Amino acid sequence: MQKSARLVESYQAAPTSGMEAAAGDGDNGCHADSEMHQLMEAIYLQYSYDFRDYSGASQKRRVGQALAHLACPTIPALQAGVLRDPGMFAQLLQYLTIPVSEMFRDPTFFLALRQQVIPRLHTYPSVKVWIAGCSTGEEAYSLAIVLKEEGLLERTQIYATDINPHSLDKARQGIFPLGSIKGHTANYQKSGGKQAFSDYYCAAYNAAILDKSLRENITFADHSLATDSVFSETQMVLCRNVLIYFNQKLQDRALGLFHESLSHRGLLGLGRKESIDFSDYATRFEAVIKPERIFRKL
Ligand SMILES: C[S@@+](CC[C@H](N)C(=O)[O-])C[C@H]1O[C@@H](n2cnc3c(N)ncnc32)[C@H](O)[C@@H]1O
Repeated sequence: MQKSARLVESYQAAPTSGMEAAAGDGDNGCHADSEMHQLMEAIYLQYSYDFRDYSGASQKRRVGQALAHLACPTIPALQAGVLRDPGMFAQLLQYLTIPVSEMFRDPTFFLALRQQVIPRLHTYPSVKVWIAGCSTGEEAYSLAIVLKEEGLLERTQIYATDINPHSLDKARQGIFPLGSIKGHTANYQKSGGKQAFSDYYCAAYNAAILDKSLRENITFADHSLATDSVFSETQMVLCRNVLIYFNQKLQDRALGLFHESLSHRGLLGLGRKESIDFSDYATRFEAVIKPERIFRKL
């Protein structure tokens, strides 16, 4: 097999656990790590997107997929290509950012919000929520539906942010493939939905167009947890399925932004896949709904 084909294959098969990645594969591993490092530095210098503190193993896997799809034989070739061609960088960005989401993803999280968190939010005269890493908008629209059904949407402003401009454009449109509706409907029901999910969209040309009224209290905006600063005072921050892609340093940066953005005893929802146990911020939040990793600022 040619060396370039082996490289692409070894990246696609990069291990999933940090421990395995740290073990590396000898000289090849070190060489590949240094190429990855150079690629991320080059992207930062040219495009100001900072992927330098993302977790190594999953980043390698995604660069491996990009190498295959962009028909690039090596990482230096990919680097040269993206530096020369912003269009190619835009394509690589789709691999580096994992733009995956769904309505009412992990429905028990939304059930917990509905039953245990929203009653607390009702005590505020007005509510600001920051959804960090909102991807294509499903999480923000799901929250808007829960707030609407619980009578709090009119008093709430949702700021939903991400670094991927393509995802933000899709989020603003609020249009989803009709094929995804069955899964979204099942999630909505499991999350304690009080109506029929079909009340919130109309179907047209193989697409589901979400009710425009859900968008009225949502602002989609560009914001990076790696390079940007805090948001003004919020009562709740949601950031699910994002920190898992960061190394400890960047996780701590993001948790610092959330801590500073939250008002006194504000709530932070991270979802079941995240943990703050090893973070500098472990003692600055207390768990309020442990399995869903919903915390209160101390
Ligand atoms: C897997 S998606 C999670 C989407 C949604 N939160 C959910 O749980 O369904 C991860 C999102 O994090 C975003 N992201 C990655 N790095 C980020 C950063 N530095 N700042 C803000 N968002 C980031 C990606 O663009 C992507 O949309």
